[in-house]
Amino acid sequence: MSNSEDMPLDVWMDGQARSSAAKLALAVSATSLVKAWPGLLQTIHPAKGSVVAAPQTLRSESEPDYFFHWLRDSALIMQAGLTLIRRGIDAALWRQCFDDFVAFSLGLTRIDGRSFVLGERRALVAPGLRQYLRSDEEIAAVQGDLVASEARYNADGTLDVLQWGRPQHDGPALRALAALRFLERGPPAEPAAAQRLATLIEYDLDYTCRHAGAPGHDIWEEALGVHYYTTLVQFAALKRGASWREADGRGEAAEQLHRTAGRLAPLLADFWCAERAFYRSRRIEGQDDAARGPDSAVILGVLHAGLEDGDHSLGDPEVHTTLQALDDLFATHYAINAGSVGTLFGRYRGDQYFGGNPWYICTFAAAEACYRSAVLNPDAADAFIARGDRILTAIRRFVPRCGDLSEQLERASGAETSARNLSWSHAAFITAWDARKSAVA
Ligand code: NOJ
Ligand code: NOJ
Repeated sequence: MSNSEDMPLDVWMDGQARSSAAKLALAVSATSLVKAWPGLLQTIHPAKGSVVAAPQTLRSESEPDYFFHWLRDSALIMQAGLTLIRRGIDAALWRQCFDDFVAFSLGLTRIDGRSFVLGERRALVAPGLRQYLRSDEEIAAVQGDLVASEARYNADGTLDVLQWGRPQHDGPALRALAALRFLERGPPAEPAAAQRLATLIEYDLDYTCRHAGAPGHDIWEEALGVHYYTTLVQFAALKRGASWREADGRGEAAEQLHRTAGRLAPLLADFWCAERAFYRSRRIEGQDDAARGPDSAVILGVLHAGLEDGDHSLGDPEVHTTLQALDDLFATHYAINAGSVGTLFGRYRGDQYFGGNPWYICTFAAAEACYRSAVLNPDAADAFIARGDRILTAIRRFVPRCGDLSEQLERASGAETSARNLSWSHAAFITAWDARKSAVA
């Protein structure tokens, strides 16, 4: 089951990157898969350009149903695709995946909840499932801005009729960031594809402008509030979008994005908790948000926003104290970390979701933060690389030889648990691998 641990870390990583790239590609345009859910009257055939969060998902007590296109996950997978293009792996395939993703995403913007109202068909849904359905009023209301607040859609491009933690406001910002980064590498060759891309970016920037700093659900889809992750990726998307509009000669439209980003800066600063020395992940009226301890969402936000310097970048010392607080927490929190060379990271203390175990995306993010910090701090580069390597050395013991990456690792045994082959886990590995390559170069 486990890896040949005698293999040098970088050799193992190169192999795992290939394997993750192949598994990620299977989640995009998975048109040969089908999810049949008769009890819900559904047969879902993924559409071209869709990204399934976990294509092997089973509906069972022990696994969540991740056969959906999430805005957040799909944008991060496209970001990993861009990384693969830069590193020369399957570049033509990922360019095509991205064009298809843009076309599919534009289709989603045209969803109108009124055509998904269940009406009398509700009575045909299996009695045990009816409690999970959204009301017809809620479904019909999904129009205008509520469409992009949906967070996830069926992989065939239809509305998700199940109740979920909505609204979420990070998805359009993440999609804009991924799309702008693709565009910076050169527009799609085909004029129609270039036009679609520009339309999608404008849609996402306008949405982000209107919902900047607004309460929504967090990336863990659990709590309605103002969240560090969401606010930070919104800030980064607005800034990057402003530069794009400026370069396009649209100064006034750029100014609007700058102004909105400017309103977010004090909100972001307010997440810092000096007494506990970490960035809080959320601000919820009437709650002591620091008491729940540090949350890996902060590190994910810093990486996904990708600010080059200043506050909330990896050049911000307060980000590093937050990373340290997380390391201290998880090092003692999970049995598996006792005596280990490096820490496996989870989401936050008190996480109950599918056992609240260490997560691949959180652990890879911690390592990636170290590698990217090495690039920023040549004097401390060796120490940062060594720290990232310790984290990856600790987790690679649990990665099976076939390269599968689940969502979580059981906290005492390291066994894969919750969703199997989570696309985001593979994407997070790829960006960590890329960061290490830049660090050692
Ligand atoms: C659960 C995670 O909390 C959320 O961030 C993610 O979007 C979904 N799983 C799908 O991977
Ligand atoms: C919804 C559940 O209520 C929550 O506990 C969980 O973390 C998220 N789904 C994961 O996406």
